[in-house]
Amino acid sequence: MYTRAVAALSLASAVLGQQVGTNTAEKHPSLPMQVCTAAGSCTKENTAVVLDANWRWTHVTTGYTNCYSGSDWNTTACPDGKTCAANCAIDGADYAKTYGVTTPSDGALKLQFVTKNDNGANVGSRLYLMASDTKYRLFNLLNKEFTFDVDVSKLPCGLNGAVYFSEMDEDGGLARFSGNKAGAKYGTGYCDSQCPSDIKFIDGEANSEGWKSGTGKYGACCAEMDIWEANLDSTAYTPHPCKVNAQTRCEGTDCGNGDDRYAGMCDKDGCDFNSFRMGNQKFYGTGTDMSVDTSKPFTIVTQFVTDDGTNTGTLQSIHRFYVQGGKVIPNSVSEIGGVDAVNHISDNFCKQQKTVFGDNNYFGTLGGMAAMGKSLEKMVLVLSVWDDYAVSMNWLDSHFPADADPSKPGVTRGRCDPEAGVPKTVEAAHPDASVVYSNIKLGAINSTFTAGN
Ligand SMILES: *[C@@H]1O[C@H](CO)[C@@H](O)[C@H](O)[C@H]1NC(C)=O
Ligand SMILES: *[C@@H]1O[C@H](CO)[C@@H](O)[C@H](O)[C@H]1NC(C)=O
Repeated sequence: MYTRAVAALSLASAVLGQQVGTNTAEKHPSLPMQVCTAAGSCTKENTAVVLDANWRWTHVTTGYTNCYSGSDWNTTACPDGKTCAANCAIDGADYAKTYGVTTPSDGALKLQFVTKNDNGANVGSRLYLMASDTKYRLFNLLNKEFTFDVDVSKLPCGLNGAVYFSEMDEDGGLARFSGNKAGAKYGTGYCDSQCPSDIKFIDGEANSEGWKSGTGKYGACCAEMDIWEANLDSTAYTPHPCKVNAQTRCEGTDCGNGDDRYAGMCDKDGCDFNSFRMGNQKFYGTGTDMSVDTSKPFTIVTQFVTDDGTNTGTLQSIHRFYVQGGKVIPNSVSEIGGVDAVNHISDNFCKQQKTVFGDNNYFGTLGGMAAMGKSLEKMVLVLSVWDDYAVSMNWLDSHFPADADPSKPGVTRGRCDPEAGVPKTVEAAHPDASVVYSNIKLGAINSTFTAGN
């Protein structure tokens, strides 16, 4: 899929923006996926992965001087965002050596948590699936299922091995923003429902204005469908709709930071189904007494059911199955009083769950399942591993919020110690943690898995 061609722009092309560096050739690791028909036949697609631009070396186009280092921009090269994008290049990545990203077998991707390298160490990574050398693979998930295998056995409390979809531009923003000369080939254009403000280049400009402790003035918003956020003790799947239907730069209230959480462009909370949080503490975890035993690999199936059973219908519900040891395991059923005993996400489930847990139903305010469904027509697949500098992943695997009574319904999400996910602690205790994703499939409902596989 990839080529070893030298990046299209030369070091001298300083009039353009968010340039391409040529010190390391960009060579996307191959990660083939399969597309399956209702009849059950599957076809291989020669997809590959690309590392997000934020992880890459950013240097002046005319040499080796850093445009960004530590957590600061070079103010000579970057007096403002536009000039910075014109002066600075992002370079190719040495996937294995610098970032700990490898493909242990055909169709499998391994992400190492901490990787010691020439510059010190890399922590975590975020990659996107590509259809070609310059375009992300766009997924229409309506009336379809998305399936993959995971090995979380080396992913302890406090870590998150995440597989999700974001509504990014197919070309990483290359066509829409003249300042962006790198595009999807270099992993540009990331956005998600948290409207992250730690993105270094947004809309073809550096986010350097007002940059402080790794965050700038702007954020990058778009709808997000979390298929899989997990470690060996907890998991959740969560739709997060937005008011916008494409990657959108935010500023101020629209970013939804702090007190603006329920006034921003996106639903940051989402509507999650976490089996432990929904009352079944024996469903997911390590050991043979769990329905899904996380000490061994398993398959995850997520189905997007529309109201009329067509690819153009309105999203109605999101279903989940697991397959392990030749057995199909339906998702656990809610055991929370006041929530119907269902094992899937729908508008009704979200409304009931948020009422019982005392959470703001911003999911419903932004249009709920129907709004999410609109975005699901053109999503980019994200594969990552990360630790959480904001709240130590407690929202996934421990108690959250920190000051709430853990016995109150909805507060406890997993059995992890709240201190286990403190980044300093988890990076020191488990640098060798890793996750493996494999056998990615898209297909008609019930076409990508069978019992006995
Ligand atoms: C900042 O960039 C300028 C050139 O653009 C360079 O001369 C200078 O050494 C850089 N400063 C640092 C601290 O890297
Ligand atoms: C898909 O398979 C599941 C479990 O095997 C079954 O419950 C469900 O009805 C099937 N759905 C369709 C649309 O056939």
